[in-house]
Amino acid sequence: MDERIKDTIVKYGWKILQSEEFDATFHQTHHLNRTVGDHTLGVAAEAVKLCMKRAMTDERTLKNVVVSSLCHDLGIMGRNEKYRNNAQCLVRHPLDSIEIYIRITGEQDERVIDAIKHHMFPLKPGAPRHREGWILTLADKIAASKEKTGRAMLSAGDTGEIMERAGVMHEGKTGMHSF
Ligand SMILES: [Fe+2]
Ligand SMILES: [Fe+2]
Repeated sequence: MDERIKDTIVKYGWKILQSEEFDATFHQTHHLNRTVGDHTLGVAAEAVKLCMKRAMTDERTLKNVVVSSLCHDLGIMGRNEKYRNNAQCLVRHPLDSIEIYIRITGEQDERVIDAIKHHMFPLKPGAPRHREGWILTLADKIAASKEKTGRAMLSAGDTGEIMERAGVMHEGKTGMHSF
């Protein structure tokens, strides 16, 4: 993976990567045989790549894209206990993710909140209002379609390296686990 992508994720996402909430994501499966953590890092990497391709590389956009990507599915943690069914999960997990974003970062950026809120578009009605949201929505779809056919977005090595650069001990938590 392009080193600039890893650097960008760590630069703007270290606080989220260091959180207890993020740590838990490596223990819940998502899309076949991946974890929420693998999925989330894959979405962040894809989203940064999409920004770079489109020359959307100003600080604010990159920060918003990384933060919203890393937080977009944190609310899905514990889905089997929290939600009655998939329909309720679809509607509620983006809202729960926003609460967690605010708790971890102490920030309430309107563009980040909008991106997380509308990331399930068009499955859930309500389109993103800003370009960060469109990038997240697209990256999430690319990641999901790849993961549903059993392919990983990131190698175990890239995942481990990003977490280590963010100051998180990640040994033994890379790749496929906790089925
Ligand atoms: Fe989601
Ligand atoms: Fe997602």
